[in-house]
Amino acid sequence: MLENKVALVTGGTSGIGRTTAIAFGAAGAKVVFSGRRDQEGEETAALIRDAGAECLFVKSDVSSEADVNALVQKTISTYGKLDCAFNNAGIVGTNKPLHEQSVEEFDKLLATNVRGLFLCMKYEIQQMLTQGSGVIVNTSSTSGLIAIAGMSFYVASKHAVMGLTRAAALDYAKQGIRINAVNPGLIDTAINDHMGSGSASHVANRVPMGRMGRAAEVAQTVVFLCSDAASYITGQPLVIDGGVTAT
Ligand SMILES: NC(=O)c1ccc[n+]([C@@H]2O[C@H](COP(=O)([O-])OP(=O)(O)OC[C@H]3O[C@@H](n4cnc5c(N)ncnc54)[C@H](O)[C@@H]3O)[C@@H](O)[C@H]2O)c1
Repeated sequence: MLENKVALVTGGTSGIGRTTAIAFGAAGAKVVFSGRRDQEGEETAALIRDAGAECLFVKSDVSSEADVNALVQKTISTYGKLDCAFNNAGIVGTNKPLHEQSVEEFDKLLATNVRGLFLCMKYEIQQMLTQGSGVIVNTSSTSGLIAIAGMSFYVASKHAVMGLTRAAALDYAKQGIRINAVNPGLIDTAINDHMGSGSASHVANRVPMGRMGRAAEVAQTVVFLCSDAASYITGQPLVIDGGVTAT
């Protein structure tokens, strides 16, 4: 599905990012993935190679402009182009009402989830414009479409991801670049560890399908959006939530 393509994944050392990096490789792409942790990076690289693909791990922090620029340049110098980018790195923050939140927590969360995503798109699009083609998928959330109590910064950040996705999709619609979002509901990854035993009752009460999603279910959606099968889709959210936002 993605033979001869070069795919980039941020937050690729765990969870949805790692699973998608492996899925990109299995679909035939060469994979560049980034994250902040060396050991998890090496483990992920081994899994991608086991799937039969070439890959490169670049340690980088998405909130750093220098790191993001270097990540995209390293992709180009290694594989010559950038066809697909999955901007997925994100953090969830502390669950509490807005008036108890601090400026420091606000800045930290938005630096990763919003500024980081903007920086990734900026440098990826510069390259895609020189090629006249490219596909970007940004990780938003059901929290980019509806709200969850106690998570105001996260909800704001994922709504901002939708705004950046839609506006940028319009900016480049005539230049061969498609830009969409995936909007996962509750997916079984480490980011939900803070919910502890609360996740079981949340799933039972809130998720029509009665189970958490799997990272692979998001990964396959990202691969589809990056493929030619999605050639007329741009500026859209694609919700993967077991029916939560249908209620
Ligand atoms: N798991 C869910 O239920 C769920 C639901 C909706 C959206 N999401 C989103 O999916 C994305 C992936 O989350 P996940 O569930 O795989 O959890 P995860 O914690 O395994 O993955 C997040 C990844 O982002 C990386 N990261 C965080 N800050 C970074 C930074 N400044 N620079 C570079 N990398 C950074 C982490 O190291 C990690 O690899 C996030 O954007 C998250 O908000 C997750």
